[in-house]
Amino acid sequence: MGNYLSVAVDLARKAGKTQLDHLGRVTTIERKGAINLVTEVDRLCEKQIFEGIHEEFPNHDFLGEEGVAKRSESEFCWIVDPLDGTTNYAHQFPFFGVSIALEHKGELICGVVYDPIREEIFAAEKEKGTTLNGKPVRVSGAPNLKESLLATGFAYSVQEEGRPDNLNHFANFIKTALAVRRPGAAAIDLAYVACGRLDGFWELFLKPWDMAAGVLLIREAGGTVTSFNGSTFDVYGDEILASNGKIHEEMIEILTSGKK
Ligand code: IPD
Ligand code: CA
Ligand code: CA
Repeated sequence: MGNYLSVAVDLARKAGKTQLDHLGRVTTIERKGAINLVTEVDRLCEKQIFEGIHEEFPNHDFLGEEGVAKRSESEFCWIVDPLDGTTNYAHQFPFFGVSIALEHKGELICGVVYDPIREEIFAAEKEKGTTLNGKPVRVSGAPNLKESLLATGFAYSVQEEGRPDNLNHFANFIKTALAVRRPGAAAIDLAYVACGRLDGFWELFLKPWDMAAGVLLIREAGGTVTSFNGSTFDVYGDEILASNGKIHEEMIEILTSGKK
């Protein structure tokens, strides 16, 4: 394996530093949709990460949330959310970070999520396990939903008429799990499942850059990632259900029961 992980870690730290340097001093907040914010810091971080990857791996492809895309015939594609949790960031709500993943022939092989506020680097390489600041981590041992802390999020389409809004699932899990949180940065939520702070996570309509790194973190930490009905997870698909494995069937039951 190349030096993919160390490059990803360095670039995640660099983007995280940029985020801290600009925190509370954002000058441009634009809307990509009715409730979908973007700041100059999102774009600056994406530029930094793209340039860093291009310098090291000029032939690799790139898919970033803020529009930087490089598509050739490369077997490698970097999937990057330069600032996950933009709404939090714009409000100085301290839960946001960087997500960088590498796909090889359609398979996730490297993933890094960085939380600059807590200086936490979550990192994984395929078949090498997951670490938090260099120390191995595993998913939790929570045996059932009643003892589980879950998290979810809501897509920017949540206020649109006629779109699935996740509120039914949210209500159902609130009634069955120990507790449910909505922290606002999916990549970090997934990293928290990987290290056992959360026992499960689900969300609709996330994008590949929200999920790619976190999914590898969870798999390499012994967890399970599927679609809502338990079928194979697709990083380009609409659904993610991630858990410590032990509560997965119970979560599938809730997500597929259609209960309101
Ligand atoms: C968002 C966050 C949020 C999730 C949204 C995402 P962004 O990403 O991860 O937790 O609920 O669906 O779009 O826009 O802050 O990078
Ligand atoms: Ca995101
Ligand atoms: Ca983002």
